[in-house]
Amino acid sequence: MPALPYLMLGGGPGAFIGAVHRIAAAMDQHWRLVGGSFASTSERSRETGAALGLAPERSSGTWQECLAREAKLSAEERAVAVVIVTPNHLHVPMALAALKAGFHVICDKPLGGSVAEGKELAAAIAASGRIFALTHNYTAHPLISEARALVRAGRLGAIRKVLVEYAQGWLAGSLEKTGQKQAAWRTDPAQAGASCCMGDIGTHAANLAEHVTGLPIESLAADLSTFVPGRQLDDDGSVLLRFRGGAKGALVASQIMVGCENGLRLRVYGEKAGLEWSQEEPNTLVLRHPDRPAELLRTGQGYLSADAKSGARVPPGHPEGYLEAFANIYTRVAAAIRDPKAPRDFPGIDDGLRGMAFINACVESSAKNAAWVKVG
Ligand SMILES: NC(=O)c1ccc[n+]([C@@H]2O[C@H](COP(=O)([O-])OP(=O)(O)OC[C@H]3O[C@@H](n4cnc5c(N)ncnc54)[C@H](O)[C@@H]3O)[C@@H](O)[C@H]2O)c1
Repeated sequence: MPALPYLMLGGGPGAFIGAVHRIAAAMDQHWRLVGGSFASTSERSRETGAALGLAPERSSGTWQECLAREAKLSAEERAVAVVIVTPNHLHVPMALAALKAGFHVICDKPLGGSVAEGKELAAAIAASGRIFALTHNYTAHPLISEARALVRAGRLGAIRKVLVEYAQGWLAGSLEKTGQKQAAWRTDPAQAGASCCMGDIGTHAANLAEHVTGLPIESLAADLSTFVPGRQLDDDGSVLLRFRGGAKGALVASQIMVGCENGLRLRVYGEKAGLEWSQEEPNTLVLRHPDRPAELLRTGQGYLSADAKSGARVPPGHPEGYLEAFANIYTRVAAAIRDPKAPRDFPGIDDGLRGMAFINACVESSAKNAAWVKVG
């Protein structure tokens, strides 16, 4: 089957996640990069285009020019999807324009800058009939699929307690003042939105908790902090959670936990069993029982559910992780584009809207001295 051609917006020189998307998209040979607007200047965009072997006419100009140019190509030549990997404030304008020009969209999280623009995008997606995927990549780890399958099958019983944390330390100092661009835009409200830490990594944690348990967070009480002097947005937060059906929990997201890397960890406990998973050790899922030793479930093993098995590429014991989880999303989106009846088993607009509601609720609650507020 021929690979699906795509454009990329963002992912220019020195960018972080654009290259991750390109590797992931290429992993299963379902996608082929054909052009893009990779940076805010045409020169830097062409620099990336040249490094990727693209013709200058497929990598020059602004993102608006890039979409207009592509839309004029014949159906055989033109891209079918646009990948958005820019700072947050550009996600929704780019996605709206891409949908209008007839492209499917794969966008990184968070959805955008506000709930209102998220709703505008949701309406545009529904009207377009195009696919919109949001790369909450952690949901596509094989053992997260297993965790979700175990919860759905009732193996944990009714869920009572959910603890999720995302611990980073990279913003423990004033990195943004050194010109480090990932830090600069994440701490700028005009580009990041209403939150730094909760928008950047808190949304991943909340999404993972909801994805595995199948339970929406109904209300929360958040205590956000800005520890680094002069910073405009939060760099740390502790949040109490109440889930639909009565489960309770806590979410800690922080970018000032010195020395921590990407400590995303989920623990879920029901009436009958408990689950523990950590993204820094993603090939092991701990299943705890009340009356016998814990089981260690491992990526790639034959005893896993069909969903978990389909997300692994190599025999057990060969580590799979971050890049492969992204690739699973790309592969599932390709299947959905090729066959409208294929399951849409990847995160989408609803996850994006939940993320925006989560950010809003955290900011509102914290401003009210950690009062309980509804999510959405
Ligand atoms: N899912 C994940 O694990 C994950 C991880 C990191 C980042 N992200 C998300 O990905 C997005 C990008 O983050 P990043 O860390 O790669 O940022 P980055 O600063 O490294 O890269 C952003 C890129 O966007 C380009 N850009 C900016 N304005 C542009 C414009 N007008 N036209 C075209 N390109 C433009 C920049 O030149 C740069 O190349 C953010 O929304 C972030 O939240 C997700």
